Amino acid sequence: MTEEAYARAEADREGFWAEQAERLDWGRKWDRVLDWDNPPFAKWFSGGTINAAVNCVDRHVQAGRGDKVAIHWVGEPVDDTRDITYAQLQDEVNRAANALTELGVAKGDRVAIYLPMIPEAVITMLACARLGAPHTVVFGGFSADALASRIVDCGAKVVVTADGGYRRGAPSALKPAVDDAVAKADGLVEHVLVVRRTGQDVAWNESVDKWWHDVVDAQSNEHVAELHDAEHPLYVMYTSGTTGKPKGILHTTGGYLVGTSYSHWAVFDLKADTDVYWCTADIGWVTGHSYLVYGPLANGATQVLYEGTPDSPHKGRWWEIIEKYGVTIFYTAPTAIRTFMKWGRDIPAGFDLSSIRVLGSVGEPINPEAYVWYKENIGGGAGDGAGAPVVDTWWQTETGQILISPLPGVTEAKPGSAMRALPGIVADVVNDEGESVPDGSGGYLIIREPWPAMLRTVWGDDQRFKDTYWSRWPGVYFAGDGAKKDEDGDIWVLGRVDDVMNVSGHRLSTTEIESALVSHPKVAEAAVVGATDDTTGQAVCAFVILRDSAGDEDAADNADIVTDLRNHVAKEIGAIAKPRQVMVVPELPKTRSGKIMRRLLRDVAENREIGDVTTLADSSVMNLIQTGMNTSDD
Ligand code: PRX
Repeated sequence: MTEEAYARAEADREGFWAEQAERLDWGRKWDRVLDWDNPPFAKWFSGGTINAAVNCVDRHVQAGRGDKVAIHWVGEPVDDTRDITYAQLQDEVNRAANALTELGVAKGDRVAIYLPMIPEAVITMLACARLGAPHTVVFGGFSADALASRIVDCGAKVVVTADGGYRRGAPSALKPAVDDAVAKADGLVEHVLVVRRTGQDVAWNESVDKWWHDVVDAQSNEHVAELHDAEHPLYVMYTSGTTGKPKGILHTTGGYLVGTSYSHWAVFDLKADTDVYWCTADIGWVTGHSYLVYGPLANGATQVLYEGTPDSPHKGRWWEIIEKYGVTIFYTAPTAIRTFMKWGRDIPAGFDLSSIRVLGSVGEPINPEAYVWYKENIGGGAGDGAGAPVVDTWWQTETGQILISPLPGVTEAKPGSAMRALPGIVADVVNDEGESVPDGSGGYLIIREPWPAMLRTVWGDDQRFKDTYWSRWPGVYFAGDGAKKDEDGDIWVLGRVDDVMNVSGHRLSTTEIESALVSHPKVAEAAVVGATDDTTGQAVCAFVILRDSAGDEDAADNADIVTDLRNHVAKEIGAIAKPRQVMVVPELPKTRSGKIMRRLLRDVAENREIGDVTTLADSSVMNLIQTGMNTSDD
């Protein structure tokens, strides 16, 4: 990608996207690049037909690259590795597609995937894409309840899971949560396909459960793929919003694949023949979808897929993997970088990381200290000792693809800034009235023009799609983030301006956690805020008022309740949502109209002087809160 692409895309945006679409194999070519006749419902490459799995796998085999490694899979137990070539991936995807067909999955049916980071996760996603059966991947850290609500919301008839996976040196279980979720989904799930990963004992329900090795391994490795309409649904990914219920973000096939393959190539300066790429995201998040499955595989890249945690069996595991496979492009999150900073530079210094030439960051703003540490300590061997370029990539589950990022070799990056919109993307920062702010000012981050990988709707709820993203200023996509433009017009993303928290790069809704807390019989009222945290960016802090019957204000009783409530949230939503702190308080600060003033609670959670309390209905409440609170932060 070169500087001239920005001007070319600006002069003819649709022409530019059509050019990018030529990177893929189409059945029938599109009639129109963009149909925006009925905004905000976009159709990209309308009239075109395409198969995502064929583009990610078969076409590389047909082009004579079947022996190229698609995935260097690294299990968490040392030496548990597998290299999978594109030809082998094709066989496996075909078998899985045949197996799903045998289980009654047809085009349009939904399949839920609840798997660890094992090859079967990628294989199942591609098999679904091949059949045109939208997948919904649920992160393995989500609870049975969260899994059940996603299964029910999108009506999944098959669930693909494993007996467990390896994390932090020990097998962890997955199947019990699926059993629970299947029971809660009340007859909706017809089959559960179970990969044997750890060999641990699992409960078995003969009427729905089937082993992967029994059903898939016996299938033919041939499968004739159907071409799907460019707008055929590819997947639904649930994400937290400002209300209690997660939204099913719908991505479709043609535009999504164009957007992800283009951005993966442009942002990482991909040279598919020589690069070894590694994105550390879990497949259960959008980054795992766009930049671990669809983008890199559509581009025919060779990549690493690692099952476990960075500290197992030692804190240099990631760097050992980079050294072993000669990783050239590495993509991770600021929270991980900050953790490595704490562990010390000696750990990466013990490994040969000289293969690295591009570093990426995603999920939350990267603070300049982390940026510089990353460039120097992980990318230090690149660029004649100047360090590898770091691309700070801004995007969202909804955007499907990276929208704002520097380009290596093109943009002179600034630590902490996502810089400018990619060629083909029109982003801006606006004020309350929706007017573009001048350079040097802050406001709301918006996208002015549709882009190929944009979400198409919220599953089953077009109105919510319109209200959430397109109603604040007509015709403009509002991302929910605040940002500023510096004196050069470069963009600095500041973080969410709504009730969404960002914990370790994962999106969590304050209201969803509040609902979980008040569902506990002892809780009368709850308010949740995201407080700044050195490692995770933000941390969940909850303030709860107990019901009268919950006991007296005795500190020992409260300590039990705090533990109980933290576990309750983990059970309701998942361990990622477990509050760092629960504070039992006698009152919550409210305005005269009854709105909770989270700003003041954030002051308490961050140990700051309490801000302006003049709008409180009862200004003595903050004194009560500060003297009466009870905390836990194990
Ligand atoms: O607040 C922004 C933050 O993460 C949000 C999107 O979260 P999610 O849909 O879970 O997707 C995460 C992976 C793409 C955004 O609204 N965010 C993401 N990347 C950045 C970021 N904030 C600042 N800088 C980034 N590079």
